Amino acid sequence: MQQLNWYKVFASPSEAYQRIPKGKLQLVKVGKRRICIAHTDNGFHAVADTCPHLGAALSKGHTNYLNEVICPWHEYRFNLVHGTESDQRTDPLEIHKIELREDGLFLGLIK
Ligand code: FES
Repeated sequence: MQQLNWYKVFASPSEAYQRIPKGKLQLVKVGKRRICIAHTDNGFHAVADTCPHLGAALSKGHTNYLNEVICPWHEYRFNLVHGTESDQRTDPLEIHKIELREDGLFLGLIK
């Protein structure tokens, strides 16, 4: 089993909902890692911010009703649960663990 380091992104669920409203994306930097947090109808998701196609920042894109993040450059659509691109035109997106707990929103990154 992979060992994770957990990082507290926000101090409470209400702060998380306020700072990343439903449908929005937010860039979070943890050391040198750039993570895109998405808030959709299915809750919070965390994925690599760098698009596997040509490297755009996905946090500058948008989400849709299919629980996908859409890249701002060429509009490839990535599933936020398993990372695959809708038409498999490029590699899947790296997915990270994220948990909304009573004491905040936590991001789990592989050590
Ligand atoms: S850089 Fe993201 S789809 Fe091309």
